[in-house]
Amino acid sequence: MRRIPERRPNRPARPRHGQGSALFVTTEMTDFVKTGGLGDVSAALPRALARWHDIRVLIPGYPAVLERCRSLRWVGSTRPFAGLPAARIGHARTGDGLDVYVLRQPSLFERVGSPYVGPTGVDWSDNATRFALLSMAAAQMAMGATGIDWCPDLLHLNDWPTALASSYLRWSGCRTPSVLTIHNLAHQGLFPASCRANLGIPARSSDADYHGQISFLHAGLMHADLLTTVSATYAEQITTPTHGMGLHTLLSRRASQGRLTGITNGIDGSWNLATDPALPADGDGDPRSICQRARMQLRHELGLDDHEGPIFSFVARMVAQKGIDLVCEVGPQIVSAGGQLAIIGSGDADMEAAVMRLARRFRGRVAACIGFSEPLARRMFAGSDFLLMPSRFEPCGLSQMYAQTYGSLPIAHATGGLVDTIENGVTGLLFAQPRAADLRQALQRAFRIYGEPELLDAMRCAAMAQRHDWEGPARQYSALYAKAAARRAAA
Ligand code: GLC
Repeated sequence: MRRIPERRPNRPARPRHGQGSALFVTTEMTDFVKTGGLGDVSAALPRALARWHDIRVLIPGYPAVLERCRSLRWVGSTRPFAGLPAARIGHARTGDGLDVYVLRQPSLFERVGSPYVGPTGVDWSDNATRFALLSMAAAQMAMGATGIDWCPDLLHLNDWPTALASSYLRWSGCRTPSVLTIHNLAHQGLFPASCRANLGIPARSSDADYHGQISFLHAGLMHADLLTTVSATYAEQITTPTHGMGLHTLLSRRASQGRLTGITNGIDGSWNLATDPALPADGDGDPRSICQRARMQLRHELGLDDHEGPIFSFVARMVAQKGIDLVCEVGPQIVSAGGQLAIIGSGDADMEAAVMRLARRFRGRVAACIGFSEPLARRMFAGSDFLLMPSRFEPCGLSQMYAQTYGSLPIAHATGGLVDTIENGVTGLLFAQPRAADLRQALQRAFRIYGEPELLDAMRCAAMAQRHDWEGPARQYSALYAKAAARRAAA
């Protein structure tokens, strides 16, 4: 079997301690395809959990996945589903020993575009079938119904596209427990009620019903044994009407049953200034000089002038959630106060256009790159002084941790995981409301700090000294797996 090239060199071999097996079901994984933080989490968390569990990943066979695992071994198949023929399941192993199952249904997954939307940015019209099949495949693996000679003790599901798996288990009477992690409550998998029969949602169950539609996430929140979300603050926020996106009553009930936990994400070991191949090498591995070189390279690469002032960066999808509109609003102030702004990301067409206008207006002071380049993003974290994260809501956020690790201070709205990972005035700056006025005040603080080199240095050191690795979070997930299994055994 051909091995998938390893993403990160020097990963330690993983001992297995036999604390139960788990199937981690996801729609993206940075080894193959990434649209956001879920891709990074799906690449890192199973690897961190492999220390205690025989954990394997299930992912759809998108072109990028099949491309990287050309010698898949076909090991099983699902039953025919939604009028489609049986889907095959292939097995591959990454260079560092992680087992990955690939769900192959060419008519659903082999197309050009992102996992969720086509080239024009519109959701694939058959997303209900695509992700119900993924969920069904996971449930059938748990039931031992796919012919694969491995059967997980638990399903770990991620976001709405996998949430129905817990419902299929419940509806079929299978006792395998499931844990559902909410990475972003804004996406719920809402589809017309007319899809019900095609997706195998039983007429007797109303658990997927949501205001006249069906909701994959609602069904999953009802049926998963345990729910997690990606920070403690977001776990509290989603039980309130303001942040619960219509699901706060159900989430409060699940929380009061002890079934909702917040576990803050970690970041993987590739975030290391001294060993990151995306950064200019420095013989001594001195963080300050690596950042200094990254800063020079960044300016050169993006066409920013040589300049005395601070560099602010923005690295995120250009969507309202991330507050890119607020960044555009304060852009002129950053420039007039003597700063520079470097932006990378893609998203809504009108937001991209606003960013490009800003860059044209302040050539040499504001630079924008529409799209995404991981190495460039890494140089932005290392080469900038501050990272702007005015997210309206943020379940966890990873960029603030990448920035801290690389010596750039996050300036963020005090919400969700940003509250749990940034100490205001110590490892970054927090502001109260996602409004341009609040961001402006935070920027004034940032300029003051930049003008006091000792303070800036102390904050950078504090930020870089933070530990954001996956060990702690993985331990908490492992304990939850045990709790889910124990609850099931007692039920
Ligand atoms: C989603 C959330 C983000 C989180 C990531 C990984 O993208 O918006 O806050 O960090 O998932 O859990």
